[in-house]
Amino acid sequence: MKLKLEEKFAGQYHKNADAVYFTPGRVNLIGEHIDYNGGLVMPCAITLGTWIAIAPNADHKFRFKSLNFDAQTEVESNKIHEKNGSLWANYPIGVINEFIKDGKEITGLDFLYYGNIPIGSGLSSSASIEIATAFALNHYFNLGYDKLDLVKIAKRVENDFIGLNSGIMDQFAVAFGEQDKAIVLDCESLKYKMVDVNLGNYVLAIINTKKPRELADSKYNERVQECQTALTLLNEEIKLNNLCELTAEKFALHNHLIKDETVLNRATHVVKENDRVHLAAKALNSGALEEFGRLMYASHQSLKELYEVSGKELDTVVDFCSGYEHVIGARMTGAGFGGCAIALLKKGFEEDFAKGLTDYYVERIGYSAEIYVSEIGNGPVRL
Ligand code: GLA
Repeated sequence: MKLKLEEKFAGQYHKNADAVYFTPGRVNLIGEHIDYNGGLVMPCAITLGTWIAIAPNADHKFRFKSLNFDAQTEVESNKIHEKNGSLWANYPIGVINEFIKDGKEITGLDFLYYGNIPIGSGLSSSASIEIATAFALNHYFNLGYDKLDLVKIAKRVENDFIGLNSGIMDQFAVAFGEQDKAIVLDCESLKYKMVDVNLGNYVLAIINTKKPRELADSKYNERVQECQTALTLLNEEIKLNNLCELTAEKFALHNHLIKDETVLNRATHVVKENDRVHLAAKALNSGALEEFGRLMYASHQSLKELYEVSGKELDTVVDFCSGYEHVIGARMTGAGFGGCAIALLKKGFEEDFAKGLTDYYVERIGYSAEIYVSEIGNGPVRL
């Protein structure tokens, strides 16, 4: 890919690229809609990701082109604080804006991107673009940020510039990912442990429902708000910084404060999902894969019924998995409202699974899902 990107860069900008970088996407194994509630999540980086080639220019402009899209976006360096029409380019624009606000002198640059993460699929193509840009600029200009600084900068871009009130999981996962390891991240303290993902006789399948995620951002922000409401109500009786400070038992003592059924459901999901991540981390550590799989199904059920972020397409995939002999666990991953599911599938059954799922899915949804066997990859690198 590096060579192809360098060649395309020369064609686009009539000069050579100076440096090429890669940053992965991520899947979250378990712990969904937990990060902005201060609990534990368990993502890992995948080998799909974003490539970026850069070279400076002398004309005080930033030019953004992606091999995935036709248009090129051009921004004068004194306009970098403004959002631009082109949706994807706002991620790098937002990152450069943060660097400049922080006093870094970055003037003209030409960028060429390529990504193979299906867009809007819940595999964090946006965090991948943000961290790809931040990592590349930090390395290229020797700006002196560490990885956690870059993660926080990228999160600010998402929250303040893009307007999605997301947590820190995605940016953290793509920046800190390591091959064949999951990150068990405490989203409140930002302490983390790398855990070996030893799947034995199983592989991690990713199933992209290909459902377009309509209104996903506004529904996401609504969930964040509902959790905030639950927290405010619980604080009438106990002192809490976030919902994930509660175990299910403790929550049961105070949940009478939440009268609204929807808000109660949201908070119940959060508290129980957080407990599940603790159990899942133990299961993974001790090689109890069947237990891990059971927790994945329970997570999905809760996201479907209590948190209401699944949907017909994701449920159809998980329904198929639960009836398929050689899958021991499956769930939606990421924000939901479409996007991807993951499944623990017995090695050697990849083709049979793909065929069975395709027939089942097409019959109920009317079009095909995409199925990949995922490898757990490393974080950002210069190539
Ligand atoms: C999106 C957000 C993350 C996280 C997940 C749900 O991916 O960007 O911060 O909240 O949804 O777990």
